[in-house]
Amino acid sequence: MDSIVVTGGSTLKGRIAIAGAKNACLTLMPATLLSEEPLTLTNAPRLSDIQTMTTLLESLGAEVSGMAGGQVLALSSHGLTSTRADYEIVRKMRASNLVLGPLLAREGQAVVSLPGGCAIGARPMDIHITALEALGAEIELKDGYLHAVARGGLKGARVPLRFASVGATENVLMAATLAKGTTVIENAAREPEIVDLARCLRKMGAQIEGEGTSTITVQGVDRLHGATHPVVTDRIELGTYMLAPVFTGGEVECLGGRMELVAAFAERLDAAGIEVTETEAGLKVRRRGDRPRAVDVETAPFPGFPTDLQAQMMAMLCLAEGVSTLEERIFENRFMHAPELMRMGARIEVTGGTARVTGVERLKGAPVMATDLRASVSLILAGLAAEGETRVNRVYHLDRGYERVEEKLRGVGARIERVQAA
Ligand code: EPZ
Repeated sequence: MDSIVVTGGSTLKGRIAIAGAKNACLTLMPATLLSEEPLTLTNAPRLSDIQTMTTLLESLGAEVSGMAGGQVLALSSHGLTSTRADYEIVRKMRASNLVLGPLLAREGQAVVSLPGGCAIGARPMDIHITALEALGAEIELKDGYLHAVARGGLKGARVPLRFASVGATENVLMAATLAKGTTVIENAAREPEIVDLARCLRKMGAQIEGEGTSTITVQGVDRLHGATHPVVTDRIELGTYMLAPVFTGGEVECLGGRMELVAAFAERLDAAGIEVTETEAGLKVRRRGDRPRAVDVETAPFPGFPTDLQAQMMAMLCLAEGVSTLEERIFENRFMHAPELMRMGARIEVTGGTARVTGVERLKGAPVMATDLRASVSLILAGLAAEGETRVNRVYHLDRGYERVEEKLRGVGARIERVQAA
């Protein structure tokens, strides 16, 4: 297993290009199952999760080819050969469950493994199941798989979600495009990745209104056609690299960044004394004083502060002046980066979903362990500021969601390299 070694102390200066959003691409790719015609995605990120989704779609009989080094994905599913998403693939990536809605809509059946828990939580699928049952699907759990059928096809309905689940909104939105009649999704998730999916589905002929609000209305149609669609900018990669100069001093411009993708996050940075400026090309960030100020953070569904930036923010607050409180309200176990940051000298007290961080003047490099995708990148950021060398192990977590992280950071002056496992 590769490691990444960061030597702290460099000041960062320069521009980082932000890639297409992993979490948009992972729901846009299964949309190919809704039509026999080809779907082309541009600005696709080059990540291992995209490869996993490719493997899953190919196991169903779809064809996926990556061009331009993987930034263009040509997908087509004119001849599906299976409607079963196997445990071996789903356990590696929960987003595999996003084939459930499209398969039900296209084939009237699907057998999808439950993803099982992961490091950050139990990750159940009850909201997905209730929503698809509202459209007339019959779903039962047998030997760890969801067996779903839609006898006579799906029918439009009112679908209230008990929680604004991103994945459940995506599954039911895709299914509703081919259901007979009108579907109204209430308490829908409002993430930019949902808006991007709706825009792509509309290009494919779907009739959708209200994406980005809590109520999405879909008029079912008989069939969808092909389309070409650019994947929206990755707001989590954007937020991650916006933080980098806060750890080191200097200034970084994140190309492709747009304020509306990270408004709640940028508001907390401003409160912490970090300057975020909109430029022609993106968002420019620099630290105003020597140390950021302590601020309180509470994660929430979009447009609130994103849970996927909580670990990175915690790492920054470890160096802030004062005491910060972070409330993680989306996942039940998303503070695994805390003990690793404490190995670097951070002062953090975790009680249930609350972490209290007392800022320190400096962190010390140490060997640390990545546990999930966002925790791993928070350790890299901390390493940029720490004295000496920080070695982050198990970086396969990192490669799931960050394109060539060491190249992007080295490009703005960081001392960072990937070390192949012995
Ligand atoms: C998406 O996961 C993202 N993944 C996650 O990003 C992100 O953290 C999450 O949304 C929240 O923003 C992708 O888009 C591929 P949810 P998803 O359904 O859809 C509970 C990353 O690092 N819940 O909104 O799985 C669930 O357990 C990943 O890129 C149920 O109880 O998130 C969680 O506590 C991590 N029942 C909360 O809701 C359900 O049926 C939010 O889950 C579904 C979810």
